[in-house]
Amino acid sequence: MRPLDCVIQEVRSEAPKIRTLRLDREIDPAPGQYAMIWVRGVDEIPMSFSGPDTITVQEVGIATQALFSLGAGSSIGLRGPLGRGFVLRGDRILLIGGGVGTAPLAFLGEQARRSGAEVTSLVGFRSSEEIIFETRFEALGDTIITTDDGSVGIRGRVAEGLKQLDLSEYSQIYLCGPELMMWDIISRARLHSGKIQACINRYFKCAVGVCGSCCLDPEGLRVCVEGPVVSADRLLESEFGRYRRGPTGGRGPCRG
Ligand SMILES: Cc1cc2nc3c(=O)[nH]c(=O)nc-3n(C[C@H](O)[C@H](O)[C@H](O)COP(=O)(O)OP(=O)(O)OC[C@H]3O[C@@H](n4cnc5c(N)ncnc54)[C@H](O)[C@@H]3O)c2cc1C
Ligand code: FES
Repeated sequence: MRPLDCVIQEVRSEAPKIRTLRLDREIDPAPGQYAMIWVRGVDEIPMSFSGPDTITVQEVGIATQALFSLGAGSSIGLRGPLGRGFVLRGDRILLIGGGVGTAPLAFLGEQARRSGAEVTSLVGFRSSEEIIFETRFEALGDTIITTDDGSVGIRGRVAEGLKQLDLSEYSQIYLCGPELMMWDIISRARLHSGKIQACINRYFKCAVGVCGSCCLDPEGLRVCVEGPVVSADRLLESEFGRYRRGPTGGRGPCRG
């Protein structure tokens, strides 16, 4: 697939290190699908869609820093939409997200509301300055916010918010965020793992299922084509939450 040439129409600041870029085309992604974004002269990196024509980038390293610094009128290359996105099931759903991982969930929640589903959100951030998409989530329905420092909502990790919810009430649970946060939620909600759809993250190179860089031990699941959204019951006995492979293929610790 050749990259499409896209022009950035608008840049919105969401938090000190997070910006949303609106592109000049809608390419009809499903929430949870991603695109390989070619930042010219720097690198090609995976990004989820935060809306039909938007991506939301957090500055963490060289390529995201370059993407973050682009203004309206700049152009990028885009291969996508790629991978398997979330599948909407049932009429009462729960979104659980952390940090920039809330981006595909806000997109999903808006689609779910339009199809008549009742949406509850549990979203966590480090502090009040890092909260993103608060108004988007609040427009969807009941919203619980956690912050690590207690500056807004419940003090502590996202899992603290689970105490206010009865997971058996939801037809489907959608999860995206830092790996250790997701693993914490999946471990606590083991009994419900069959109805948790998790949008996960690995080191991508080819994004077409050929190079093996994103494979998950021991099943060999290729996250770039068979994911990034996978059922949590496939993660329980995998490397997820324990280790992950980096650019060299060697094992390293999970982040977040
Ligand atoms: C399916 C998918 C969807 C994603 N969606 C988004 C999104 O919507 N918004 C967003 O900001 N980011 C998203 N990411 C993560 C993003 O692709 C990485 O942050 C980016 O590739 C890092 O590139 P870099 O050159 O800036 O950082 P590097 O210089 O390569 O690395 C900087 C730091 O980030 C870590 N890192 C590198 N790649 C990844 C990765 N794939 N996952 C986690 N940590 C990584 C490195 O270990 C290092 O600690 C997504 C990743 C995947 C696989
Ligand atoms: S990134 Fe190459 S197989 Fe997934």
